[in-house]
Amino acid sequence: MGGTTEHAGNFVPVDERLVSFFVSLKKEKGRNFMSNIVQQDILLQLQQLQKDAQTALAQANTTEATREWYSEYLSRKGRLTGILRNLGSLSAEERPLIGKVANEVKAVLENALQERQTAIAQAELEAVRRAESVDITLPGRPQNLGKLHITTRALRDIYAIFTAMGFQIYDSPEVETDEYNFQLLNIPPGHPARDMWDTFYTTTPGLILRTHTSPGQIHAMREYTPEPIRVILPGKCYRYEAVDASHEFMFYQVEGLAVGKHITFSDLKGVLINFANQMYGEGRKARFRKSYFPFTEPSVEMDIDCVLCGGKGCPVCKFSGWLEMLGAGMVHPRVLQNGGYDPTEFSGFAFGMGPDRIALQKYGIDDIRYFFTNDARLFERV
Ligand code: DAH
Repeated sequence: MGGTTEHAGNFVPVDERLVSFFVSLKKEKGRNFMSNIVQQDILLQLQQLQKDAQTALAQANTTEATREWYSEYLSRKGRLTGILRNLGSLSAEERPLIGKVANEVKAVLENALQERQTAIAQAELEAVRRAESVDITLPGRPQNLGKLHITTRALRDIYAIFTAMGFQIYDSPEVETDEYNFQLLNIPPGHPARDMWDTFYTTTPGLILRTHTSPGQIHAMREYTPEPIRVILPGKCYRYEAVDASHEFMFYQVEGLAVGKHITFSDLKGVLINFANQMYGEGRKARFRKSYFPFTEPSVEMDIDCVLCGGKGCPVCKFSGWLEMLGAGMVHPRVLQNGGYDPTEFSGFAFGMGPDRIALQKYGIDDIRYFFTNDARLFERV
């Protein structure tokens, strides 16, 4: 086994004077005695290591710190292995004791590490839980419920009122032919009334975006003739308009059509006054003014007293006290004929209204452009 100088290099003796004393002894009594001293010293070092390690471990507060602790004390390059390197200088009889103690120290420290790591992991988990915990006593945050667009609401009100009066809802196309949009409604090419409808023409001759829902009248009549008809025709219409506060290039209309035997202008008035009372509230005043539409004869426009000022005059009714509600009339005999009904036997009334306009009036909104700008605040207000 190695000599004295090697020993001195491999461990830190407790006391230099003791070492030299034992070195001198060794010279007299042989190396066994020296070896015994080394064994004692290693034992002391192991004891000290255990103490140091335990103190250090108690201060390690994070998983990361316990890893560093492990590498300092227990890893292959750690202090425990460092001490055991000195085993080589021991005799075969001495080594088992050191080995046993070293293993015990190792086991104690490994157990301590395990415990510490479990405690830290639990504390870390607890901290996360506390930080992320839900306080169930807090009042809930109010949810912003979506609302229907006010045009949709106006449309649904209109559907409810007319279906209760026995009208069916009839769907008709948004892309129309010139024939349906104009000619069959008694507006031949070149007719001056065409000036009332600024039309979107397509590159296909004769194919246009409908400027009103009135062509749906022809579709409905051609489908139902010779049966009597009571329908409303809601949908989008398009006009080549300069957009401003009261004009959009796309807007809704709801057309109405009743065809049968003995239908009179009184029926038209009764239906529309009933509608106005249900839509705007009982006791509504209504008036009918003479007007002109090529597809009705006679033609009227219906006004109601202003819903906002009650007829006194305000900016919404342009200080007239009246709001224009719709156009209407008795279906022109030529239109009845185009729809497949014999005008000597059948008569009918028709009307057309703008639900966007109705919504504007009902909710006191002053600019139709809000309807399509998607500013949710508009619908929080109404
Ligand atoms: N189509 C007309 C327009 O867009 C509105 C209208 C007026 C429809 C009178 C009708 C009616 O059915 O009888 O201005």
